[in-house]
Amino acid sequence: MAQEVRGVIAPGKNQPVRVETIVVPDPGPGEAVVKVQACGVCHTDLHYKQGGINDDFPFLLGHEAAGVVEAVGDGVSEVAPGDFVILNWRAVCGQCRACLRGRPQYCFATHNAKQKMTLTDGTELSPALGIGAFAEKTLVAAGQCTKVDPAVSPAVAGLLGCGVMAGIGAAINTGRVGRGDSVAVIGCGGVGDAAIAGSRLAGAARIIAVDIDDRKLQTALTMGATHTVNSRTTDPVEAIRELTGGFGADVVIEAVGRPETYEQAFYARDLAGTVVLVGVPTPEMKLELPLLDVFGRGGALKSSWYGDCLPSRDFPMLVDLHLQGRLDLAAFVTETIGLGDVEKAFERMHEGDVLRSVVVF
Ligand SMILES: NC(=O)c1ccc[n+]([C@@H]2O[C@H](COP(=O)([O-])OP(=O)(O)OC[C@H]3O[C@@H](n4cnc5c(N)ncnc54)[C@H](O)[C@@H]3O)[C@@H](O)[C@H]2O)c1
Ligand SMILES: [Zn+2]
Ligand SMILES: [Zn+2]
Repeated sequence: MAQEVRGVIAPGKNQPVRVETIVVPDPGPGEAVVKVQACGVCHTDLHYKQGGINDDFPFLLGHEAAGVVEAVGDGVSEVAPGDFVILNWRAVCGQCRACLRGRPQYCFATHNAKQKMTLTDGTELSPALGIGAFAEKTLVAAGQCTKVDPAVSPAVAGLLGCGVMAGIGAAINTGRVGRGDSVAVIGCGGVGDAAIAGSRLAGAARIIAVDIDDRKLQTALTMGATHTVNSRTTDPVEAIRELTGGFGADVVIEAVGRPETYEQAFYARDLAGTVVLVGVPTPEMKLELPLLDVFGRGGALKSSWYGDCLPSRDFPMLVDLHLQGRLDLAAFVTETIGLGDVEKAFERMHEGDVLRSVVVF
């Protein structure tokens, strides 16, 4: 029987979000219903609310979540009721041109639930990133559930479902940061700090954190940054070059999503270095660079979707490293909040005093 639970809805462009009763159908073939235990507030949820992703309102927000599988539909063998899982937005299809070439981390036809969750009047909801986990229960494709060690706290585990995975993966998977590399990270929110933690994990020798907010730079130091640059007062390109023997960093990770910070990243890397764009720009943004510099500086200009992660490979591994004390994921949880506090959490995100607010149930 379909169930009625509480969930956070974005009703229309820039309208405040609110808690409503939503209807969660029983899982159909290939689907699972998950009892959500924790869900982080990501900048992308705010993009949805502002209409920056698309116009398919009303959205059911939330997508950085962990919980327990409650029920599965026909044909589901990868998870079973009672499993502790992190929800992912990359349930790979195994059949698209990327999957068939052995590159499932780029899967172009990822799975989501086929049935729709609705409001009680039948209005269909668009779940953020195909998840919608600011809700007591949510319906997803079974492949969106990745089993991990249940010893980890749900509030910590959920963050791997998006921002923290995106940042760690931007460094390790996309940027290929390795032992002895110099890395600069521009924008030290949850994603940028995760890129810093990932760079430390990969053995980077020098990790330069750049932000316009000194509080963010202080936190970045605790995540593994070896140097900080406040780009409001100091030219970050010159500062990064100075800190790297005059050359620039091997890998520069842009975790803001703006043309001016991308340009800083472009010029702050060494010749033949790598730029990784993990920040998400908005549709009106444009970039202008001398084509000769694009050629002459060589190297690689890459974008990182979801940290080029493969959830089945990366989530359990990162949870294990956390449980072994080698990756402090708990440091990303600034506060735990209730389902009714999401609008306030968006405001706090703007004020810049949180890395992650996490809704716990
Ligand atoms: N690629 C992906 O798969 C993926 C996944 C999740 C989030 N994201 C994106 O990553 C970006 C960061 O997300 P977040 O959750 O860390 O956001 P956040 O708001 O927590 O952090 C942004 C940080 O950038 C800093 N900043 C803002 N303007 C700056 C500037 N001009 N120069 C330097 N620093 C500046 C802010 O002070 C803040 O510390 C967002 O664009 C988000 O949508 C991408
Ligand atoms: Zn595929
Ligand atoms: Zn996210």
